[in-house]
Amino acid sequence: MEKHGYGKLSRWNHWLSAAIVLTMLLIGLYFHDMPRGDEKLYWLHLHISIGVVAFLFVIYRVFWRLRRGMAAPLEQHSLLQRLSQLSHWVLIVGVLVMFISGPLIVWSAGRGLEVFGLFTIPSPMERMHELHEWLEEAHILVSRILMWVIGLHVTGAIWHLIQHRDKLRGRMWG
Ligand code: HEM
Ligand code: HEM
Repeated sequence: MEKHGYGKLSRWNHWLSAAIVLTMLLIGLYFHDMPRGDEKLYWLHLHISIGVVAFLFVIYRVFWRLRRGMAAPLEQHSLLQRLSQLSHWVLIVGVLVMFISGPLIVWSAGRGLEVFGLFTIPSPMERMHELHEWLEEAHILVSRILMWVIGLHVTGAIWHLIQHRDKLRGRMWG
């Protein structure tokens, strides 16, 4: 466990993965409502390409946290402590689910993962329609859960920064 806040590497991991996850979420939400066509395909390919490039880093970041555990929580009301610990675990597991279901959505449709038009990672599986539909639903559902939990997480971080400036700053900033 990281007892006294988060170390330098954990902070870099946090901010880089946060930027990746937010980018993926924003692109996904943006193309969701688009009618089928070239523009939607463009954003979908961008989403997939960034996902493939970021894959190894994000998986490493998630397992690093699973192995090391979370830092001891900030001193605050026990209910808020539990809520913040729970939300951190939901974020970690949610991100893992997104990065595993994402490539599988493409592969279970019998397609390869095209990366920035440079190369394609072929599908290791046959086309599996039911699995594809199921994964798509899971990807969408978990993206909505992440969206709300990230909202809560960022609101909590800002609130703490205003209330207890120094305590939180030493943990993930500066
Ligand atoms: C700009 C937005 C964000 C801010 C201001 C922010 C802020 C913070 C802060 C201050 C902590 C430390 C909490 C503590 O000391 O107990 C933290 C931890 C954490 N945050 Fe964020 N965060 C942001 C975005 C995200 C996003 C998008 C994710 C989704 C992956 C995320 C996932 C986590 C996780 C899993 C932890 C626990 C420690 C770790 O494994 O890094 N954060 N965040
Ligand atoms: C944290 C990471 C990720 C987030 C937050 C995310 C988020 C989203 C969102 C919001 C959508 C739109 C869903 C909708 O139609 O409402 C989406 C769709 C999609 N994502 Fe991701 N995604 C992530 C990772 C990935 C990865 C790594 C891949 C593949 C390499 C991927 C492949 C796809 C595909 C193929 C779709 C289209 C699904 C469909 O047919 O509607 N995603 N994603």
